[in-house]
Amino acid sequence: MSRLAVVTGGNKGIGLATTRRLLEAGCEVAVVARDFTGFPLAGEARVRAVPFDLSRVEDIPALVAEIGEIDILVNNAGIMHALPWDAYPREKMETLLRVNLEAPLALMREAGRGMAERGAGRIVNNASLAAHTGHPDVWYGISKAGLKNATKSFARLLGPRGVVVNAVAPGPAETDMLDTIPEPRRKAVLEAVYTGRFCRADEVAAAIAWLALESPEYINGVCIDLNNGSFPR
Ligand SMILES: NC(=O)c1ccc[n+]([C@@H]2O[C@H](COP(=O)([O-])OP(=O)(O)OC[C@H]3O[C@@H](n4cnc5c(N)ncnc54)[C@H](OP(=O)(O)O)[C@@H]3O)[C@@H](O)[C@H]2O)c1
Repeated sequence: MSRLAVVTGGNKGIGLATTRRLLEAGCEVAVVARDFTGFPLAGEARVRAVPFDLSRVEDIPALVAEIGEIDILVNNAGIMHALPWDAYPREKMETLLRVNLEAPLALMREAGRGMAERGAGRIVNNASLAAHTGHPDVWYGISKAGLKNATKSFARLLGPRGVVVNAVAPGPAETDMLDTIPEPRRKAVLEAVYTGRFCRADEVAAAIAWLALESPEYINGVCIDLNNGSFPR
């Protein structure tokens, strides 16, 4: 029987590349996002488009109940703003924290319950290098640090019941999100990395898919960096 994966933000960018990889591995994929205009996998067998705004955190239990038994959860959707730290509208901050942090937590709680009951499941959270370093969008950095920390908490809570929970932390990657990064920062990134190029969406997807499908059960609660030397540990 094929596994059911949920990929939030699976309609574009890193999420779309992840959806493609999970499909190639034989999964059914429920893609959760707001806008499916031009979605290249519309109508594909084994792909279900689920229009949903993740800022509606209180409706996530109903969303998960409607999707069914989730084997793999990829918390990928996220937003970032090019806003100054000292003039950040409260409404923007609240929505960002809902989408980047509260929604993944609610999805882990709701999907994780069923996984724990069945004694199997995989969760992969798309954090960011910002989780370790901080970020010019301070709330983005905070949300990603929170998601990285929550990855460890949920691995600890659900690991004993057969659930594997890990994260990835990419540096700037070639997606629409990259367009929100100001040119001087983009240049600084390209100078800092070993290979002089940005990360590709499919490179992040490859790491996510490995954690979602193949990685050993003993890897649990970690965060894999994709930073190409820009953040030496
Ligand atoms: N690109 C980078 O440089 C980079 C680096 C590190 C980490 N990341 C992380 O990677 C993840 C994917 O980003 P990306 O680079 O692929 O950027 P992207 O192309 O802008 O994708 C963002 C995704 O999030 C979805 N999304 C945003 N708000 C949503 C909401 N309220 N409800 C449901 N879905 C929502 C979007 O779909 P809709 O707009 O249709 O809702 C879209 O699918 C994010 O979590 C991001 O923080 C990206």
